[in-house]
Amino acid sequence: MSTHDALEDPRNRDIRIYVDGEILHRDAAKVSVYDSGFLLGDGVWEGLRVHKGRVCFLEEHLDRLFEAARYIDLDIGKTRDELTEAVQATLAANDMEDNVHIRLMVTRGRKRKPFQHPHLSVFGSTLVIIAEHSEPSGDVIDRGIRLHTVPHHRGLPLTQDAKLNSHSKLNCIIALNHALRAGADEALMLDPFGFVNTTNACNFFIVRKGEVWTSTGDYCLNGITRRKVIGLCRAHEIPVFERNYSLVDAYGADEAFLTGTFGAQTPVYEIDGREIGGCKPGPVFLRIRELYRGLIEQDIRQGS
Ligand SMILES: Cc1ncc(COP(=O)(O)O)c(C=O)c1O
Repeated sequence: MSTHDALEDPRNRDIRIYVDGEILHRDAAKVSVYDSGFLLGDGVWEGLRVHKGRVCFLEEHLDRLFEAARYIDLDIGKTRDELTEAVQATLAANDMEDNVHIRLMVTRGRKRKPFQHPHLSVFGSTLVIIAEHSEPSGDVIDRGIRLHTVPHHRGLPLTQDAKLNSHSKLNCIIALNHALRAGADEALMLDPFGFVNTTNACNFFIVRKGEVWTSTGDYCLNGITRRKVIGLCRAHEIPVFERNYSLVDAYGADEAFLTGTFGAQTPVYEIDGREIGGCKPGPVFLRIRELYRGLIEQDIRQGS
């Protein structure tokens, strides 16, 4: 079980992928072995969802992408409008309208030599857009996610800032491997002080006595779904706190759930072998999920 489980869709065997201005069959879509992303994980990306013809919360995703690119000194080489056009062209080439997941990736581009110096990336950025038919599996709501707390923590911004949605995800992958070996589905990661922070691929929330708690927002990706959930709680008088809390609070929670663009909100039914919420979706989770669906509908209406 994973938060990214999607129903198998045979149409994905023949999708068209955007690679630097060309839209090619997936078997022909390739980047160079000299690409900075392949060689070094030197790039940034966004995961987006399309509902009823609308790329939801696109502006927020572009904000985050450009902010990350600015931080790592990567010239995307395209404006926001040009990126939006490239996304739309990819969707049009695939005749995609609904239940689509997009991975938009920008790297520092092809290098002259296989070394890390950014000045060796002399050919301009590489832009790849993969759009797949992708309907989240309903099983995940029935079965819930089992988390395992791993020794690998989210770093301080002094190292690789967790706010970067970077191509190099090794910290998260090592954490996930550890959780998988422990028989869980995903990794729960702590911050450098031992407070509960996030998972390897999603943001993490708990519910205690009707209150929604999530980490302070330090040391984790500034998730767009996370921010939307906090906003919805505030707008609908569900008490919500961005605060430090420990595994004592997490094990004792009435409900726990994950947030991310792909799965929206996904319930957690077990943390380190402790059952959470009687292994069924809790009332606060269900309410937030309903409110979030309403927000998506609103975003779709704004686009039409
Ligand atoms: C480590 C991590 N945390 C959280 C998220 C969820 O962020 P968002 O809600 O913007 O999809 C992601 C998604 O890419 C992620 O990689």
